[in-house]
Amino acid sequence: MRDLLKFGTNQPAETRLKTVLVINYSQTGQLAEITEQVISPLRAAGHQVHLETLVPETPFPWPWPMVDFIDAFPECVQLDPPPLKPLSIPADRQFDLVILTYQVWYLAPALPMTAFLKSPAGRQLLKDKPVVTLVACRNMWLSAQETMRRLIAEAGGQLRDHLAFTDQGHALATFITTPRWVLTGRRDRFLGLPPAGVAPEEIRQASRFGRALADALDRDHEKSGEPMLAGLRAATVNPRLALSERAGHRAFRVWSKLIRAFGKRGQWRRRPILLVFVIYLITLIVTVVPLSLLVQWLFAPLLKPRLDRLRAELEQPSGSQEFNLQKYDQ
Ligand SMILES: Cc1cc2nc3c(=O)[nH]c(=O)nc-3n(C[C@H](O)[C@H](O)[C@H](O)COP(=O)(O)O)c2cc1C
Repeated sequence: MRDLLKFGTNQPAETRLKTVLVINYSQTGQLAEITEQVISPLRAAGHQVHLETLVPETPFPWPWPMVDFIDAFPECVQLDPPPLKPLSIPADRQFDLVILTYQVWYLAPALPMTAFLKSPAGRQLLKDKPVVTLVACRNMWLSAQETMRRLIAEAGGQLRDHLAFTDQGHALATFITTPRWVLTGRRDRFLGLPPAGVAPEEIRQASRFGRALADALDRDHEKSGEPMLAGLRAATVNPRLALSERAGHRAFRVWSKLIRAFGKRGQWRRRPILLVFVIYLITLIVTVVPLSLLVQWLFAPLLKPRLDRLRAELEQPSGSQEFNLQKYDQ
């Protein structure tokens, strides 16, 4: 028990220290850096944070050789991950809150996170727990989050908040800068385009979520069933991208099944069909994506009510509103 001056409320109160499990995996350290920003204020407030970094039995490469990068596609989409090394904590350890941080691979959660959510230990750790998800990716996280929501519910967890961090460049620019980063490891300014990845200022400001969470834990808000991080611009959705992403995800499901019919990950047998997929993907990116953005732009006034509804729905549970920003920004 401790007596402290509560952040934001100015009221002294008796509070119990909370235990928080944070699941993390990051190749470049970007997601780890954002995670650190969120958990530092929790630790500073005295809460006990266990950071568990997922370790695949066979590490994924960084930067990714082109063939390995494409070859990972079907298993990402079909949620068929290779195994992880055992966790450093027992599966029956109890936490007050779980924070799942992940990146998107092929419109699905990255394979280490999928492996965690499908493992008996991961499912046991989530059972009956309030869960916060945090994603950092290029810009298309809606399908992956839908999958996260389903896997968390299947494990018996309760998704309470979602935080989304996306790359700083324009959607079309990141079609170049993100693959360049993943395939060469270089994320600097290129051809006049902004550097790949989430903007450093966005990363720094992620600490507002940690301060708000610390405040929520002090008030036992994690038990309320309500979002704890509303009003902090937690997740902003571009509904135009959402429509393209839905179409892309449907196509990905068909292609991933087809490619797996030719062979397993790493087998030569499926390389020809992988090549056909790459040609399809590039054609899609240079034709259908700009075309669909153009059509949506042209019909924007007609589509607006529908897109506004879609945006509000997809930004749940934490939303893009800003009414609490001043209170927790620093
Ligand atoms: C195999 C692979 C597939 C990816 N697919 C997507 C994607 O579909 N959508 C997206 O927004 N970002 C995608 N990314 C980018 C990642 O989400 C992430 O931003 C990047 O890998 C850096 O994350 P990290 O360094 O924290 O691991 C992909 C990255 C990899 C390695």
